[in-house]
Amino acid sequence: MANPIIHVQSVNKEYGRGKKTVAALKDVDIEILPGEFVSVLGPSGCGKSTLLHVMAGLEQPTSGRVLLDGVDVTLISERDLPKVRAQKIGFVFQAFLLLEDLTAFENVESVLWPSDELKKEKQQAMALEVLREVDMLERKDHFPRQLSGGEQQRVAIARALVNSPPILFCDEPTGNLDSKTGDTIMKVISRINKERKMTVVLVTHNEELAKYAKRTLRMRDGRITSDR
Ligand SMILES: Nc1ncnc2c1ncn2[C@@H]1O[C@H](COP(=O)(O)OP(=O)(O)O)[C@@H](O)[C@H]1O
Ligand SMILES: [Mg+2]
Repeated sequence: MANPIIHVQSVNKEYGRGKKTVAALKDVDIEILPGEFVSVLGPSGCGKSTLLHVMAGLEQPTSGRVLLDGVDVTLISERDLPKVRAQKIGFVFQAFLLLEDLTAFENVESVLWPSDELKKEKQQAMALEVLREVDMLERKDHFPRQLSGGEQQRVAIARALVNSPPILFCDEPTGNLDSKTGDTIMKVISRINKERKMTVVLVTHNEELAKYAKRTLRMRDGRITSDR
């Protein structure tokens, strides 16, 4: 059997100190294989975003380890983290988080890594390629405010793909969209999982959206309560 591409080992995450401590993750163990599409389903406040942030090295766990492709992200120095994240992870947020002053094309191009080692033409070609993949080529010169929510999220997905990382993390990616647009976005994410054989971890509080994934981890009060 293949080695897990994501291995969460005995992870705990606490926020705050003393009496006000919140245990957001409790003894979480997860193994995800390359190419899997996994959803994490649970109610608001159960720890989904915390789990995704810890998996992506955006936040440190209080205890435990997270291995991405065999690399322990909890041990990487602050200096090396941006590079490791760029190479291994794409992240899609509920609120899109595009830079308002950059066009769709510039939003995608701005995260290319390592930008100083790539020729300008190569960078442009890479950005155009992923914009085509999410069907946003025709709107590449639009600013975020000139795009619908669904279009903005497609640009954000292109931005997450441009460095060809093996892993895509999605935090409630359709939470700010109507259900029809949300379905379109879920189809784009499913297609990326199939065609790129990219590992996808998507968190949601919506039972219907979780069904797009082949495997669902149910979460409650900081714990994984079922895995099927
Ligand atoms: N930065 C933080 N400081 C303190 N508590 C936090 C912080 N982030 C999240 N929490 C708490 O941790 C728990 C899990 O939050 P979160 O991971 O955002 O849940 P979900 O994404 O499932 O809604 C909640 O009780 C939340 O209030
Ligand atoms: Mg959340």
